[in-house]
Amino acid sequence: MISDTTQDIEIDALSEAQARAELDRLADLLQKANREYHTEDAPTLSDAEYDSLKRRNIAIEGRFPHLKRTDSPSDQVGAPVADGFSKVRHEVAMLSLANAFDDTDVSDFDDSIRKYLGLPADQVIDYTAEPKIDGLSLSLRYENGALVQAATRGDGEVGENVTANARTIQDIPHHLTDAPAVLEVRGEVYMSHDDFAALNEKQAAAGQKVFANPRNAAAGSLRQLDAEITRNRPLRFFAYAWGALSDPLADTQMGAIERLQSLGFSTNPLTRVCQGPTEMIAHYSQIEAQRATLGYDIDGVVYKVNDLSLQRRLGFRSTTPRWAVAHKFPAELAWTRLEGIDIQVGRTGALSPVARLAPVTVGGVVVSNATLHNEDYIAGRDANGAPIRDGRDIRVGDWVEVYRAGDVIPKIKDVDLKRRPADATPYVFPTACPECGSDAVREPGDAVRRCTGGLICPAQAVEKLKHFVSRAAFDIEGLGAKQVEQFYRDGWIATPADIFTLQDRYGQGMQQLKNREGWGEKSANNLFQAIEDKRKIPLSRLIFALGIRHVGESAANLLANTYSTWDAFETAMTQATVGEGEEWEDLLAVDGVGSVMAASVVTAFQQEAERASIDKLVAHLQVQPAEVRDTSGSPVAGKTVVFTGSLEKMTRAEAKARAEALGAKVSGSVSSKTDLVVAGPGAGSKAKKATDLGIETIDEDAWLDLIGDA
Ligand code: IVH
Repeated sequence: MISDTTQDIEIDALSEAQARAELDRLADLLQKANREYHTEDAPTLSDAEYDSLKRRNIAIEGRFPHLKRTDSPSDQVGAPVADGFSKVRHEVAMLSLANAFDDTDVSDFDDSIRKYLGLPADQVIDYTAEPKIDGLSLSLRYENGALVQAATRGDGEVGENVTANARTIQDIPHHLTDAPAVLEVRGEVYMSHDDFAALNEKQAAAGQKVFANPRNAAAGSLRQLDAEITRNRPLRFFAYAWGALSDPLADTQMGAIERLQSLGFSTNPLTRVCQGPTEMIAHYSQIEAQRATLGYDIDGVVYKVNDLSLQRRLGFRSTTPRWAVAHKFPAELAWTRLEGIDIQVGRTGALSPVARLAPVTVGGVVVSNATLHNEDYIAGRDANGAPIRDGRDIRVGDWVEVYRAGDVIPKIKDVDLKRRPADATPYVFPTACPECGSDAVREPGDAVRRCTGGLICPAQAVEKLKHFVSRAAFDIEGLGAKQVEQFYRDGWIATPADIFTLQDRYGQGMQQLKNREGWGEKSANNLFQAIEDKRKIPLSRLIFALGIRHVGESAANLLANTYSTWDAFETAMTQATVGEGEEWEDLLAVDGVGSVMAASVVTAFQQEAERASIDKLVAHLQVQPAEVRDTSGSPVAGKTVVFTGSLEKMTRAEAKARAEALGAKVSGSVSSKTDLVVAGPGAGSKAKKATDLGIETIDEDAWLDLIGDA
């Protein structure tokens, strides 16, 4: 028996037989570790243990090259890619909701609507109020009454085609009578508490995976590749909204819900019309009081403006409607012990302290990590030096109160000084990067300490890569955070550009891996195809993917819509100087871009290493110009419009949003690039500048005439 002992033998001392046995043992271990990490989401080896096994394997292969297995773990990277569902582009995007956490947020929501619409302070607005179901959203498309497609939300723009699965859900009608010719019904798929408990019992008895909560069970059941499995899962569906529609369902939200009900959908019986915040909050309290006895999970109450013509005027921000808000139930709390503080390094070099906790159940989910935000938060003060938690600091060994709000990462609310161990010492925040050893510094005004290592810091490099492949960025199927980490660790990719040369460099090696857990020929080919597909990338996604500090998804959209093409954007950013000049002024004129973000973008294009990495990447891509919305027939599509002076029929915010919806660009300042100035009473220097430059200037009525909305 050599196989039990080979693990302790130094590589130089291994006989050939021992080496063969040891390579077999390592292959088994690494295969199991890969499966646990990628497929089961339940690793039992630490990264360091995994790395050391992998290094030992490579070293033995180095000494005995002829013993290298054909399925050697050294060649193996990443995880199998499940053969997924086909993709569906939503005709009308599936958005999420802004959140309200207390009564003040609710009256602020009501005020913001009045303000946006320019309604008097004493005008009462009607809202529907209904439970927020904790499941997953689904869009059902009916054409001439027949269910033709069901799609998950996905990233809101593109979801997964789960039609066969949706057809197995009892609450979902296959045919509708007297429905609009095109009707997309949207709602939530969920599982009741009783059904969830029974399913888990059945799963456990069969030795199958049990689900952590009804939401996960519903999601796991709907996203089965085999619809027959879904059929045996007790899923339900509440309809609460709609997407594409050939004829209106009603004039009000409540009317539309009643119409959906009469078409045969289940709608939530706790949906009410409320007149203003007082009634909304009262209904919220009623729903909250019934929460435990409803028989299904809800996590708040959704308010929607009842009048659909007002909904239309209010429209959408980039990812949420202005006319709705989710009033969340308070987060659940639990006490546990803080066992340690780890520092994670993010893509912009931020050192983020993470609390390692003795595992504790909070709201049905086991929590063992929580964010500690930054060094001030640990020390018990806010960004301005004012005390938080009455100045109590947080120390390793302390009892801390943990909470979860929605899906976000758990947080720490408080610390119990009475239970503090006598030997607990104040936490000393590191001043060097724990990943690369570079200095970690805090710039004045920045709450966060950052590693100065840039791309030489492996943590920053890998986080940048993870961001690059994330859902709102390149979203490469089969190349998620875990795979990127592994590819990086194995030296296969160091910067985003390397992703696009993977096939040239490793295509052959990957195909040798077929018949193995991990990558097979098929999954490798799928990955290469997914990468190929993303060489064509919309400008906004590329800008977001670059991971420039302060440039989130909506800023990336703004920049893409403003500059339209990569060439124009790149040229402007190359020529710009922070704080002065025409390009700088143009950038600042973009509504929504402030000087901090502008400086960050310009700097990114001018830092040598970062710029080189961008150029190398873009050489592999065909960047698609900003999508011109279908504004055919719009008289202002592509025009740059400036609003100045006071408007009387709508607020500035509404005017801007309407203009943008019609394909116009709205700028804050008049320049030679302006096509049209809309001047209300009191217009001053901007109107004058427009006259000087010979730019067409019209009043508000003429503007409304022009856009066909007088
Ligand atoms: S309305 C355009 N109503 O909450 C707004 N959403 O946080 C469409 N949800 O993605 C959503 N119950 O999955 C709406 N009664 C309800 C809801 C609800 C649950 C989910 C939905 C949405 C998420 C947003």
